Amino acid sequence: MPLSRVVRRSAIVLVVGLLALTARQALSDAPKPPQGGPPPQGGAPPARNPWAPPAPGTKAEQHYQNIQAFKGLPAEDLMPAMQFMSAALGVDCDHCHVERAPEKDDKRAKQAARRMIAMTRAINDGHFKGEREVTCYTCHRGSDEPERVPSVDVKEHDEEEAPAESPVAPILEKFLAASGGAEALHKVTSRVMKGTMSGAGPQPFPVTVYAAAPNQRATVVETPRGESVTAFDGKGGWLGGGMRPPRDMSPAESAAASLDAEFWLPETLGKRFDQLRVLPDGKVDGKPARHVLAKHASDTPVEFWFDAASGLLLRVVKKTETPLGQLPTQIDYTDYRAEGGVTLPHAWSVARPGSRFEIRITDVQQNVAIEASRFRKP
Ligand code: HEC
Ligand code: HEC
Repeated sequence: MPLSRVVRRSAIVLVVGLLALTARQALSDAPKPPQGGPPPQGGAPPARNPWAPPAPGTKAEQHYQNIQAFKGLPAEDLMPAMQFMSAALGVDCDHCHVERAPEKDDKRAKQAARRMIAMTRAINDGHFKGEREVTCYTCHRGSDEPERVPSVDVKEHDEEEAPAESPVAPILEKFLAASGGAEALHKVTSRVMKGTMSGAGPQPFPVTVYAAAPNQRATVVETPRGESVTAFDGKGGWLGGGMRPPRDMSPAESAAASLDAEFWLPETLGKRFDQLRVLPDGKVDGKPARHVLAKHASDTPVEFWFDAASGLLLRVVKKTETPLGQLPTQIDYTDYRAEGGVTLPHAWSVARPGSRFEIRITDVQQNVAIEASRFRKP
């Protein structure tokens, strides 16, 4: 598959990616010197800054300094590829990179990674008609040294398989009833939730979630670098904050954000997708759970897990494309409590390989006026 193929990612990839980059920037307090020389003088071209967001339409080799394997790839797709490799091998960026000089080839692991990218491409081109069947993770499984010897561990088959073609309607109906029912849901048309976000830095950040029916949502995190906003205005999503100018989400990022923005989700979940299928039951945090796979158009499928006992939504798993494979984002909902006739999660965690943050809500106000400008890109 050509790497230049348009790659779809979700808002989460970007938000977590930016947080990861911000953390790296914070570590290197001095500005990064341009490679191999004194700072540019007078008329010298500006040094290329790998941490600056690439301009739309830029190729990786135009934005970065030492691109060989990913020539032709849109520059904005390089970081998702880096995140995928880190996750597939279970390593940090430093495993392959010299600190503050990612363009250098000093580390053997970086050189090995280039050979591995070529090998993986050759396997898929030569044996799987160019489909991305084999990825770094197929062999590495979260380790930098793939296993050669099969394990003697015997798998226990204690999970009950759901009967074939188990209907999805009862699962969705139970979710709606557990959430308060359609009538109670519709009595609430807006909601402001305040709490904290932890896991993105050493200190928790204050967070406010603004939501309005049918599908507007803005999450505002107050970081030491200013407000960071992830929003969906009912039609499209945008990201803003800190010192960066706000920008529109890609169509796939928007699609992912629109699911989070669904105000009456317990009622509308079934209508959002073209195809819903019940998979074998499993467990979420030790609780027996019903498992539903939802597909819509050409988007990557979304997995939903519902508490078999209460019927409430426990987990959503979305997968986003990177040039090397898909990265999962898992959102776990906990601490369900009633607010004005509606049962809502008061905590949720957002996890990706190697990163996780949690939002805890301490204050909920419903049917309050929210200015339309809250949801609109400034
Ligand atoms: C398994 C090894 C590996 C890991 C882990 C890895 N990278 Fe890379 N990185 C590479 C390779 C290989 C290249 C060069 C790609 C090419 O030749 O097109 C690269 C290139 C880059 C570049 C472009 C540098 C330039 O100017 O040429 C940046 C920036 C970068 N990586 C950042 C990161 C970050 C941030 C992480 C952690 C999230 C990371 N990398 C994790 C292997 C790795
Ligand atoms: C077909 C299986 C397979 C695939 C696919 C694969 N690898 Fe590997 N990789 C290996 C094996 C086996 C080794 C160990 C070779 C050795 O022991 O010298 C290895 C070694 C490496 C190493 C060197 C170990 C280290 O960290 O110093 C890196 C880095 C690496 N792989 C990165 C990747 C990346 C990135 C991808 C995806 C683009 C990838 N590999 C895909 C099988 C694979």
